[in-house]
Amino acid sequence: MASASNGWRRPAISTSVDTSSVEETHELGRRLGSALKAGDVVGLEGDLGTGKTELVRGIAEALEVTGSVHSPTFVLHHRYQGRLPIEHFDLYRLEGMAWVDTGLDEPAPDAVTLIEWPERAGVLNAWATTLIRLTSRSANQRRLTLVRGPDRVREVFEHAPRD
Ligand SMILES: Nc1ncnc2c1ncn2[C@@H]1O[C@H](COP(=O)(O)OP(=O)(O)O)[C@@H](O)[C@H]1O
Ligand SMILES: [Mg+2]
Repeated sequence: MASASNGWRRPAISTSVDTSSVEETHELGRRLGSALKAGDVVGLEGDLGTGKTELVRGIAEALEVTGSVHSPTFVLHHRYQGRLPIEHFDLYRLEGMAWVDTGLDEPAPDAVTLIEWPERAGVLNAWATTLIRLTSRSANQRRLTLVRGPDRVREVFEHAPRD
């Protein structure tokens, strides 16, 4: 149902894309990366191995990041330089720690912020204006569901190639 308060036209409808290979997940990431803007905060929810970091790799390609992308599981955070900088968080190890205790600032307005395990920091999850949920369907199949996001991100999901 349309909600007047948040500006999203169809917030109740989620949109899913199924990928059958890492390369297809990268391709969705590249399309997402082209749609993202400075100040965007994207939460990536899903169990280990569902492809969150692979999606970040595709986004990083579109943003012309030259260095390699690794899940920052042990340091919580990496910053990559690109056409737009990327702030890449992985909060897997954050459990039991308050966000404020990490000493990290709030998401940068000049960068695209990508957060794996956003649900582990309530405040950061609330900042995520785009939320994508990833699930494994078989060894090489992943389902990526847009839970919320602006129209330009929704369009990427709606226009993604489908079998
Ligand atoms: N369709 C797919 N999309 C993404 N990753 C896939 C896919 N099929 C298999 N994989 C594998 O799943 C793993 C995903 O790893 P990763 O992106 O690090 O997960 P996460 O960051 O969610 O823990 C990789 O080993 C990758 O090769
Ligand atoms: Mg990861």
